[in-house]
Amino acid sequence: MHRTLLVLGAILVASFEIAYAGANSTQEKPASPEAKMTPEDVAKKNPVPPAPEGLAEARKLFGYNCAMCHGKNGDGKGDLAADMKLELRDWRDASSIEKMTDGELFWIVSNGKGKMPGEGDRTAEKVRWNFVNLVRSFAKKGAGDKPKAETPPS
Ligand code: HEC
Repeated sequence: MHRTLLVLGAILVASFEIAYAGANSTQEKPASPEAKMTPEDVAKKNPVPPAPEGLAEARKLFGYNCAMCHGKNGDGKGDLAADMKLELRDWRDASSIEKMTDGELFWIVSNGKGKMPGEGDRTAEKVRWNFVNLVRSFAKKGAGDKPKAETPPS
């Protein structure tokens, strides 16, 4: 009887250790948004050409997951952005993100940055590239409205 208790005790200790190890490994997960962007990430080329279907899908998801911060038309004036007092870029102005590569934008969409949550786990890679295309398309529309200053005279 005494022996049985000892064995039971040992099993209990062992299972606590397993549970503890499990808790530890899940604790590591939230650290991934702090992942560093590498030069390879920045240089990554967009493998998904902007196409109407892809943009439409991204636009729909953008309405659910992004517009509350970035605004429906990418102006950065979503309700949540106002509540959180976030200063977001106005993507309708082409110059707002022209210095950032598609690879950088893709990395931010995937991993998040600062107050922005990352999409990496729940959104397919192709859709994340289409988010990049969509974000660029807001800027392109803006560029169409007013001629850009740096356009060389013809
Ligand atoms: C909670 C508000 C919030 C939500 C929701 C959000 N973002 Fe952001 N986003 C930000 C903030 C804040 C930044 C700027 C981060 C920084 O530079 O520190 C940002 C930056 C970006 C950038 C980099 C370019 C830039 O303007 O800085 C892209 C691209 C982007 N977001 C796309 C998206 C997409 C796509 C979604 C939806 C899937 C999304 N964001 C959802 C807050 C948000």
